[in-house]
Amino acid sequence: MSKMRTTERLRKASLKRKKNVKSSSQSKKLCQEQIKVEVPRILTGKEATYHSFKDLIEIHSIRACLLSWYDKSKRELPWRRMAVTESDLNKRAYAVWVSEIMLQQTQVVTVINYYNKWMQRWPTLQDLAKATLEEVNEMWSGLGYYSRGRRLYEGAQKVISEFKGEMPQNAEELQKQLPGVGKYTASAIASIAFGQVTGVVDGNAVRVLCRVRAIGADSTSSTVIEALWMLANTLVDPLRPGDFNQAIMELGATVCTPKAPLCSECPVKAHCRAYHQVLKKQESVSKRLLGNTLSKISPTPDIEECENCSLCLPDKESWVGSLGVMNFPRKAAKKLPRAERTLTCVVTRKRTAGDAEEYFLVQRPNIGLLAGMWEFPSILLESVMTEKEQKCKILDRLTELLGSSVTEKNFQYLGEVVHIFSHIHQTYVVYSNSLNSASIDTVKQGRKKCPSFRWVTKTEFQQSAVSTAMKKVLQLFSHSSTDGKLLDKDVKRIYGSETNRNKQKERKHKTSTNHGGKQLSVDSFFRPTVKESL
Ligand code: ADE
Repeated sequence: MSKMRTTERLRKASLKRKKNVKSSSQSKKLCQEQIKVEVPRILTGKEATYHSFKDLIEIHSIRACLLSWYDKSKRELPWRRMAVTESDLNKRAYAVWVSEIMLQQTQVVTVINYYNKWMQRWPTLQDLAKATLEEVNEMWSGLGYYSRGRRLYEGAQKVISEFKGEMPQNAEELQKQLPGVGKYTASAIASIAFGQVTGVVDGNAVRVLCRVRAIGADSTSSTVIEALWMLANTLVDPLRPGDFNQAIMELGATVCTPKAPLCSECPVKAHCRAYHQVLKKQESVSKRLLGNTLSKISPTPDIEECENCSLCLPDKESWVGSLGVMNFPRKAAKKLPRAERTLTCVVTRKRTAGDAEEYFLVQRPNIGLLAGMWEFPSILLESVMTEKEQKCKILDRLTELLGSSVTEKNFQYLGEVVHIFSHIHQTYVVYSNSLNSASIDTVKQGRKKCPSFRWVTKTEFQQSAVSTAMKKVLQLFSHSSTDGKLLDKDVKRIYGSETNRNKQKERKHKTSTNHGGKQLSVDSFFRPTVKESL
């Protein structure tokens, strides 16, 4: 689709919106066309009605309720402003692209700062394409899932070198051409930046749609995912697709939340099958307690429920009364993250007594977890080792990297730091070693088995492309070397992680080891291993 045509379409859509011109016959026709193709093929009869959107009046009402709620209640977010005010389509699509990549797995509040800094530094695709991967990793430091930043950068380079700076303008092409852009991100960019009429299904939309249509089968199964895309494509507003998609995600983020949803404030509760089921169940309990009178006072309209199809809850018994609408969605149990232990050592030096302390960092390989990021020298433990064996192992590695300047004299065990990556429960066993200033210059780049390395001050460390895990390790080191007390917020940070999802896992971990609900002491966070003399 040419840039002209897209701009024209957006302009017309926006004009129509402003004048509130609703061509009902036109939009009915559109809906009918969509419904024809969007009813899940797997469903028939009662099931199709219960778990899909077939009633045109209801579809119009949901769109109108959701959009008017969004217009009143939406959060003012920097990328939303850009998507409305930026007239250059490539700049607009780039702004949406950056926001959508950052928002994958990361909460809005965390993203805002990163987003503003990113857009200030690289306001256009051209600017980003000229950056280095090191700069991109530095900017991404702390956001987690570092491959997201790298792919965004590679995507910008591709758009500049292969498409002369012109972004692909529809979901199919965006997904096909841009690294790291999947079906959701492509549809979000296409609808928000280019006005393409396509739905979106992210985590928030999954929750909203599963509740509105009472879909209780495993929401990660292909059957449910396919059904949800069909629902999203049926429901999306043809005149304001970008706003509609953001509205459904916004509803999931602020009202239809995973825990303690605010159903009374929900603009679409009248259309919500989960809400309806809860009301009906409450009514039948009241009836049992008070006789039939109550049901006559507030009769809940009867919607014929679907009993047992591929989208329903697994069985009637699986309904948990105390969960209410939170019975939806359901997920198959997730695999626990695998546990790993890594030895790591904070090596420091001071050139002269008056100089700032410097830390020795090495660069990780360019592929795999935390590709290209900087870290304290580390070794993944592949077998169980005694403390003595661990010390020998890390000392050998340091000698490999730093030569004869490494001695046991200033070598010290500090404790452990836990960090949860998406699929790894990582425990860093932390040591420190301060180098003798006289031997500093024996360190040589390019030794055999030696990755790139550098010495950084504390300030430079904070600005480097280092993960949050390494920041926690430095925090433990600073705490140990000053013998200072950690504040509550520091403790949380040391045990915290980079993503929302990880936070939940950690909370679980914390509660499972929370010593009878008492606040954990600092020592319990830096759990020492069993002492053993060298
Ligand atoms: N989550 C991801 N993208 C979003 C957006 N544009 N609005 C609300 N929530 C989102």
